[in-house]
Amino acid sequence: MSTATEKQFDQGLVNTIAAETQMSFIDGEKGILEYVGVDIDSLARNSTFEESTYLLWNGRLPNAAELAAFEQQLRAEYELPAGVLDMIRAVPADASPMHTVQTLVSSLSLFDAEADDDSPEANIRKAIRLVAKTPTLIAAFDRHRKGKDIVAPDANRSIASNFLWMLRGEEPTETMVRALDVCLVLHADHGFNASTFTSLVVISTLSDLYSACSAAVGALRGPLHGGANEGVMVMLNEIGDMSKVDEFMKGKLERKEKIMGFGHRVYKAYDPRATYLKTFAEGLARDTGNLPLYEMSKRIEEIMHEAVADKGIFPNVDFYSATTYWSLGLDLDLFTPMFALSRMSGWTGHCIEYLKDNKLIRPGAAYVGPHEVPYVALGDR
Ligand code: SDX
Repeated sequence: MSTATEKQFDQGLVNTIAAETQMSFIDGEKGILEYVGVDIDSLARNSTFEESTYLLWNGRLPNAAELAAFEQQLRAEYELPAGVLDMIRAVPADASPMHTVQTLVSSLSLFDAEADDDSPEANIRKAIRLVAKTPTLIAAFDRHRKGKDIVAPDANRSIASNFLWMLRGEEPTETMVRALDVCLVLHADHGFNASTFTSLVVISTLSDLYSACSAAVGALRGPLHGGANEGVMVMLNEIGDMSKVDEFMKGKLERKEKIMGFGHRVYKAYDPRATYLKTFAEGLARDTGNLPLYEMSKRIEEIMHEAVADKGIFPNVDFYSATTYWSLGLDLDLFTPMFALSRMSGWTGHCIEYLKDNKLIRPGAAYVGPHEVPYVALGDR
């Protein structure tokens, strides 16, 4: 048992390793990300969200039969319990989508007989339900808040295709499906980021997967984390057009304000997820008449490179996912729910991995308050 003197003060746990993992490897200096050793660029170009999730959960890529079986397991769980659909219809139309996602993820536990069964087999089944149902609850909420009929999931479609189908009720183009699938692959896992670590804190008490993932949604919502992609789009809309970019950025930098979509706790080089996403965002923006948005992003990147690249501040995954999601026609406030949809894969995988060698997460605190303070009766204060 370590004593107080042996404990290290490490605000934000910047220099702390909390556990081992075999899921994702990040080299922040070289800008490398691998899922179980497979480079993220290869996965973005060749894999699918379902295949990458299998890789993260099972420690290897599936063969054709294994992938087909896994896809079937996911598709069999696309539907929402009737009680959750009733809840969605009761959510106010102006409710925050991330508050709604957090509430609905937690509500799934009310209709799952295995909610408190923490056996590895039950946890895998719950992980499949969480990954399969999160797209359905996001799309159903968006349809509801727009006064449209909820579109039932189609078990003949991949997760990316099914999401766009349920969101719009019309056949998505192959380009749109591919673009979304790439984003889901890129966002699936990323070590012990704030939301994943949140899920580990919860699961380490031997709580359940639904509680861990709904807590993780709460952490992801923050603008310093998953909420940044929405912040990037707000910034681009605030700038308006290319002629105002330089002036806007000059002001932000002079006021030492943080630019959303830049900087990272681990990457001090270009975020490897942004590399591929940038090329994808350009093509999609061109196809959908959003090229000015992409051009503004490129100019912002040039300005930031000159100003802060020497401090190790580069674009992160959120910077070009903003243009991609906007070009896909997603509402601004659905950007972060898309991040949650994908990261459900990482959260559930890390919780199941951590439970194999569980240790309650409970760091120390450096007390800096007073001592030996007398209790003064109320009348004498
Ligand atoms: C994600 O952890 C993960 O893996 C997260 C994620 C994932 O996949 O889960 O990768 C996803 O969350 C990406 C990050 C999205 N967030 C943003 O884009 C918000 C803007 N970024 C910053 O808030 C910031 O870069 C953080 C929060 C991401 C990281 O910040 P740190 O590590 O806590 O470092 P810091 O805030 O102490 O900044 C160090 C210096 C400061 O300057 P000085 O006071 O030393 O002079 O760098 C500056 C900061 O001002 N800085 C920025 C900046 N980010 C850091 N300056 C301008 N713009 C920025 N974006």
